[in-house]
Amino acid sequence: MKMKQFNLLSLFLILITFFGSANSTIVSHDERAITIDGQRRILLSGSIHYPRSTSDMWPDLISKAKDGGLDTIETYVFWNAHEPSRRQYDFSGNLDLVRFIKTIQSAGLYSVLRIGPYVCAEWNYGGFPVWLHNMPNMKFRTINPGFMNEMQNFTTKIVNMMKEESLFASQGGPIILAQIENEYGNVISSYGAEGKAYIDWCANMANSLDIGVPWIMCQQPHAPQPMIETCNGFYCDQYKPSNPSSPKMWTENWTGWFKNWGGKHPYRTAEDLAFSVARFFQTGGTFQNYYMYHGGTNFGRVAGGPYITTSYDYDAPLDEYGNLNQPKWGHLKQLHTLLKSMEKPLTYGNISTIDLGNSVTATVYSTNEKSSCFIGNVNATADALVNFKGKDYNVPAWSVSVLPDCDKEAYNTARVNTQTSIITEDSCDEPEKLKWTWRPEFTTQKTILKGSGDLIAKGLVDQKDVTNDASDYLWYMTRVHLDKKDPIWSRNMSLRVHSNAHVLHAYVNGKYVGNQIVRDNKFDYRFEKKVNLVHGTNHLALLSVSVGLQNYGPFFESGPTGINGPVKLVGYKGDETVEKDLSKHQWDYKIGLNGFNNKLFSLKSANHHQLKWSTEKLPADRMLSWYKANFKAPLGKDPVIVDLNGLGKGEVWINGQSIGRYWPSFNSSEDGCTEECDYRGEYGSDKCAFMCGKPTQRWYHVPRSFLNDKGHNTITLFEEMGGDPSMVKFKTVVTGRVCAKAHEHNKVELSCNNRPISAVKFASFGNPSGLCGSFAAGTCEGAKDAAKIVAKECVGKLNCTMNVSSHKFGSTNLDCGDSPKRLFVELEC
Ligand code: GAL
Repeated sequence: MKMKQFNLLSLFLILITFFGSANSTIVSHDERAITIDGQRRILLSGSIHYPRSTSDMWPDLISKAKDGGLDTIETYVFWNAHEPSRRQYDFSGNLDLVRFIKTIQSAGLYSVLRIGPYVCAEWNYGGFPVWLHNMPNMKFRTINPGFMNEMQNFTTKIVNMMKEESLFASQGGPIILAQIENEYGNVISSYGAEGKAYIDWCANMANSLDIGVPWIMCQQPHAPQPMIETCNGFYCDQYKPSNPSSPKMWTENWTGWFKNWGGKHPYRTAEDLAFSVARFFQTGGTFQNYYMYHGGTNFGRVAGGPYITTSYDYDAPLDEYGNLNQPKWGHLKQLHTLLKSMEKPLTYGNISTIDLGNSVTATVYSTNEKSSCFIGNVNATADALVNFKGKDYNVPAWSVSVLPDCDKEAYNTARVNTQTSIITEDSCDEPEKLKWTWRPEFTTQKTILKGSGDLIAKGLVDQKDVTNDASDYLWYMTRVHLDKKDPIWSRNMSLRVHSNAHVLHAYVNGKYVGNQIVRDNKFDYRFEKKVNLVHGTNHLALLSVSVGLQNYGPFFESGPTGINGPVKLVGYKGDETVEKDLSKHQWDYKIGLNGFNNKLFSLKSANHHQLKWSTEKLPADRMLSWYKANFKAPLGKDPVIVDLNGLGKGEVWINGQSIGRYWPSFNSSEDGCTEECDYRGEYGSDKCAFMCGKPTQRWYHVPRSFLNDKGHNTITLFEEMGGDPSMVKFKTVVTGRVCAKAHEHNKVELSCNNRPISAVKFASFGNPSGLCGSFAAGTCEGAKDAAKIVAKECVGKLNCTMNVSSHKFGSTNLDCGDSPKRLFVELEC
């Protein structure tokens, strides 16, 4: 009997072990590639940050990534979002990391988990909680027991959560790689010998967590073994891992760039992005990740900085709302399909390169079964006509041709056949005119006149040290007695504040003196304004506002925030200047504004408190004011935005949930934009920028899941600077127009993204020219009526596909010259 029991038990154990291992995937690496179950792989990955969208958007974003040819999704983990107070965790809603990874898994994709927990990412404080900074003897990212203990605690927590749900590939899950730290190589020298000791500790700590898949370190030359170092940047073709047994991996190919308040709209062309990817694979790369594939939105106060905008669109292949950013998405998709078809030669083949002159190189990858080739032209201006293996190829400047079988060009990074989609606001239904109510911030008379706060200190304090970043706002208040004999008296007296506040508002004796905002990255500045002082007690109240805490640089955690002084009163008497330094005075501090503390944006609590909101005399330019209105959600499924043009600066909530800071009154500078963008030559974040002299961000994403389809919805605004809410409108974003400039012998696919194509505005096959919106026919055209053909194939349909050929559009009646024939189309949606 006993014997039988034993046998059953061992059979059971054997079965568990068997099924367990059948599910698990072995991920390792050699000098050439990441190997999965012993096979070297080409991995095409894209970053999607789960808290920058809402959980209902995840399946669609991930399926669009898969459809775009990706097999892996990369994300950071955001410590300060998950552990807002020490040992109190939040994994709810769009912070549900396990659910996000499982969504990736159910789409059949792999995942790369960049735990960090330092992430940078244009995320508030680079992902660190501010309470961590406020612990005694704290120093980040170096040998510091308190820091290391907290970092290890959080990292272990995340690893255990993943293990419990069997999410590592070693357990049958989708996570094939994890990352510890981030870009420490960029700053390590600033930390001296401790920097090296710290990164070794990171590696040991990560290793000890035994996750069963490799760890990577991004931008970490000579990463401690067995960490795999990886590259990031706009290009990584020149990158060579310092460890010869590390494969060439690229964890961040920047698909565009982020935006600062006051900055222009970044734009990186599909041609250049595809060029960087093709070059990377031409030069031996095997893992490539788009940072970002979907950028999304910095909801609430998660934007880093200082001064990162609420939109984190990034000009990524999926736009902020999750729409395809065309032609980027489609042009890359075609490249991905080809690269995948070349996986074996690229990862196992012998490599030979042939210099074809003038910066043109051909690379041949060959195995016994198959050869694949690239011809790259890195010359930024000169197109090349080259002969390769007995055939002529035209390789435009700054482009790569891909020849999957080495005898025919299947793709060239500079020849885009994908449509351009022009996203517009839907103006079909006249948006409703909102009826606003308003109320002043519970001022503040007490604050600005009496100066009573929550805490008192001698001297000036650093903002984040006091607020723990619970609020953007901190009042600094003091009083100064001036008797008649005080030497400062003169007709011309001013308040002078040395400040690191991202925005500063100053009041003297209850009167508003003025403000200062940071421009051109001058975060350390002097504010000086003329003031009226009285004999006796004078009250000073300075409101310091932070707009996202710094997220990058050595020792960034201890960079100054708020008003660090000195704060002085200055009397000008002819040639003489008399200063009175108030910096060492006793100061009162008040954290946050009363409206926030009373949750005026939360529907429940506003009703609960029965606060008065007035419909009368809606102020159009009043500082520190709250506004509220009800509205109907726009019908349908298209993404919703709110146009905040007319407002100053503040924060906006929809049904009690913050959709971020707003600042439409902040225009970008007038200069530095170009009408047309040349994709050729090295890209940088300023190149090809557009929207000069326009609000940095006028439209704000309102996730559908924040809205009630039926019944009413409420928008609440806190206006800090003064603005006019009467122009605020809810709209949807749709594809308004579509253009294509496809090359002969290719297929062109046209679609209005779930809306029928309504009309053909232009179509010509031959040598047409111009930009989308102003196409013009050239000197030669196909014999058939292109507009008619396109109309027949496309109008009334959701999408259509056509061969771009003389067969379809007729041979060209006039000589098209040497230039290859193209089909230009503009469609109305
Ligand atoms: C990288 C960093 C990312 C992000 C990026 C710029 O250096 O690792 O987190 O900040 O720069 O978007």
